[in-house]
Amino acid sequence: MKRITILGSTGSIGRQTFKVIRKLKKDFKVVGLSANSNLPKLKSQIKEFHPEIAAILSKDAGIELKDWCRKNKLKTRVTDGLEGLVELSKYNSDILLSAVVGSVGLEPLISAIRTGKDIALANKESLVIAGKLIMAEARKHDVKILPVDSEHSAIFQCLKDEGLKKIKRIILTASGGPFYNYNRKHSTINVTQALDHPTWKMGPKITIDSATLMNKGLEAIEAHHLFNVPMDKIDIVIHPQSIVHSMVEFVDGSTLAQMSHPNMELPIQYALTYPQRYVSNLKKLNLTDVEKLEFYKPDFNKFRCLKLALEAGRAGGTMPVVMNAANEIAVGLFLNKKIKFTKIASIIDKVMSKHRSIKNPTLKQILQVDMQAKKDAGLLC
Ligand SMILES: NC(=O)c1ccc[n+]([C@@H]2O[C@H](COP(=O)([O-])OP(=O)(O)OC[C@H]3O[C@@H](n4cnc5c(N)ncnc54)[C@H](OP(=O)(O)O)[C@@H]3O)[C@@H](O)[C@H]2O)c1
Repeated sequence: MKRITILGSTGSIGRQTFKVIRKLKKDFKVVGLSANSNLPKLKSQIKEFHPEIAAILSKDAGIELKDWCRKNKLKTRVTDGLEGLVELSKYNSDILLSAVVGSVGLEPLISAIRTGKDIALANKESLVIAGKLIMAEARKHDVKILPVDSEHSAIFQCLKDEGLKKIKRIILTASGGPFYNYNRKHSTINVTQALDHPTWKMGPKITIDSATLMNKGLEAIEAHHLFNVPMDKIDIVIHPQSIVHSMVEFVDGSTLAQMSHPNMELPIQYALTYPQRYVSNLKKLNLTDVEKLEFYKPDFNKFRCLKLALEAGRAGGTMPVVMNAANEIAVGLFLNKKIKFTKIASIIDKVMSKHRSIKNPTLKQILQVDMQAKKDAGLLC
């Protein structure tokens, strides 16, 4: 039985991870959980899974949670703050699934890797800002980084048993989000429209990232680090049906693809059970029922966030850190109705233009640049 810790257990990926674990009860014991501030959800997860430890970012919520555990005679130890998240990451488990959103996931992730446990990684922002460091730490501690993102899970499955030298290019597919065929001005797009994703149900930040296509830029940088493939060997195609989750073209001209109906439970299960492939009761793909599979080139002029993210990825150093930080702030401002949809790209562009990239940043420098870029972006609203 594998002991599992889940960072960000109350979010979209966290909740889907429990759907997988409920079906694989004999194989997993949940020993740690975490949330930002969603106490009701965290309490119900503690009641169901009786973890040994739970972390909550907010100190006040931490006090309330400790009290609640005591009153309900639950033995779960409660920790709080970023230190609490780090403590949870280091806690005795075989695998940590990181499903927090944003760069806050970086320090807990590095701490978990240093304890030698394997990582199922959904928190792409950490890899985007510190991919080189994370992968170096993983190699040093002989830790597997197992992708949860459906595209990276697809690539990982296509690459099985193939040497990296055999890759000609990686083809990342993107649904195109709700605005791929939108004919009106993007400045008129409101929050409700942007949160209405055509094929995936996800948390609010990644849903906006999918609407701006920033998500695909973040994923290209994620793939670059995870699979050690140069940015210029990663192509992006729009595939509105979200059936082909990504592809790998090999030097002999063969292209392998991984396909399924869009459902995150599949890549989550694969990451948790790897190297085994378990049975699942998810809807099976019948290609004769799928009317068409379409593929288009992305429009970089319409989707400026994608262009900026790829530029940051190619520049390397701390440029992806500022790009990601500015995006996190700008998306938050848009979700709070403080800026227009199109201002997200403008803010990222401005913060990136001001930045002088540091080539091989340390963890401390990454965290400093992240904090400064978030401040700079916040002043641009
Ligand atoms: N959702 C998907 O289908 C999907 C697919 C592929 C990749 N991903 C990636 O997976 C990650 C999670 O996405 P999601 O959609 O699951 O996000 P989400 O629904 O917003 O959930 C985020 C989780 O992180 C917690 N959290 C948020 N801010 C935090 C902070 N500052 N400190 C500590 N915990 C914090 C949240 O706690 P509260 O509930 O208390 O706020 C929640 O548990 C992202 O990096 C995303 O890009 C998601």
